[in-house]
Amino acid sequence: MPAPAEGARRRSAGGPSRRQFLLGGAVAGVGAAAAVGIDAALRMRDDAPASAGDPGADPGQPVAFYGAHQAGIATEPQAHAAFVALDLRDGVGKEELARLMWLLSDDAARLTQGAAALADSEPELAVHPARLTVTFGFGQGFVARAGARGPDWLAPLPSFGVDRLRAELSDGDLLLQIASDDPLTVAHASRMLLKDARSFASVRWIQQGFRRARGTVRPGTTQRNLFGQIDGTVNPVPGTDDFDEVVWSDDGWLDGGTGLVVRRIRMNLDKWDELDRPGREASVGRTLSNGAPLTGSDEFDEPDFTATSSIGFPVIPTFSHMRRARGDGRERIFRRAYNYDEGAAGDEISDAGLIFASYQADVARQFIPIQRRLDEIDLLNEWTTPIGSAVFAIPPGCQEGGFIGETILTKTGAST
Ligand code: HEM
Repeated sequence: MPAPAEGARRRSAGGPSRRQFLLGGAVAGVGAAAAVGIDAALRMRDDAPASAGDPGADPGQPVAFYGAHQAGIATEPQAHAAFVALDLRDGVGKEELARLMWLLSDDAARLTQGAAALADSEPELAVHPARLTVTFGFGQGFVARAGARGPDWLAPLPSFGVDRLRAELSDGDLLLQIASDDPLTVAHASRMLLKDARSFASVRWIQQGFRRARGTVRPGTTQRNLFGQIDGTVNPVPGTDDFDEVVWSDDGWLDGGTGLVVRRIRMNLDKWDELDRPGREASVGRTLSNGAPLTGSDEFDEPDFTATSSIGFPVIPTFSHMRRARGDGRERIFRRAYNYDEGAAGDEISDAGLIFASYQADVARQFIPIQRRLDEIDLLNEWTTPIGSAVFAIPPGCQEGGFIGETILTKTGAST
């Protein structure tokens, strides 16, 4: 950290001249913002984004909004995320949906690049995108209002024995997944988007989640959940053919998009406290220290499911979460979960868990068989309870001048 005097010097090096410039414009009777454009004016303020070489902050590069796929899926997970599900208002049909998605896409295109949204009421809050991404998902209701046909899996999941689902944490017509390394940016982007969505839709639920703050661990480090487990080791790697195959659909209007399952899974930390370390490791089949399989020493070692202990028991328990989730390895999904922690709940000192989010081209063929196996038996079920569930089709990305959802909203009779 620089000494105060040094810090003051650093500030004054760029500060006054920028400030004088802005003041000069104002004194001349021309609003500085009007003269140079509000975005450019904001960039000249002291809170302009930290630039490369500035040791004070590492905001990361803005994540491109336009492209074949929506951002926020293959993107290295940001530290904070809000999943916001909306219900469409009565009377909102295809035309209104096109207007809504055009508006929201425009907001997202600007905000993700550090520019204020149109009619942004707090433009200063747009300056630091901190790798902001906004990812849109369509629920069953959205696709019906668009007069289109969805993929068959776009419906509530079948009910599972472990479920204790609450309607107020489930389903929804339109999802906004807003993620950034800065929680203030998430809050501002959420508010801007919701303001523009207000006349078309109302909020059904909001789930806010977090991972480690940027800079705490090396980028690419697998996250830990609130059980202390390394969570996300066995996952397709973005940028590989394997990832593309698992995640991206090539089906009709969803071509270039994917399917998203969001499950709010409560983790009973008070009950987990009663379990000793070997029991905790057995429940998943991996060590807590570095996430290695119980038959290995490194996080990415291949587990040996045939290994047995001296008394003949499998080293990786048959009903461990890893083993049950993997099955024969044919069903694959891409997990990108966030932790949640709502503080105390009644007599319990924590109300915490996982906002489990998985992306897969075909929810019915990939996610459901895994969830069925876990529902049937999984040691982890003793400490986890799904309390919310929603499925969305994530449409492909768009190019500049286009908008998210155009593949379903600008063609007649779009079907997958
Ligand atoms: C609160 C609930 C959950 C917790 C705490 C949890 C935790 C974990 C942990 C610690 C691992 C091992 C490390 C890794 O590969 O990531 C794992 C693996 C995995 N989990 Fe979960 N999980 C939960 C829910 C789910 C759900 C709902 C599904 C899907 C229906 C799922 C699917 C998987 C898969 C596919 C793997 C990789 C298995 C393999 O090794 O091939 N998990 N989970």
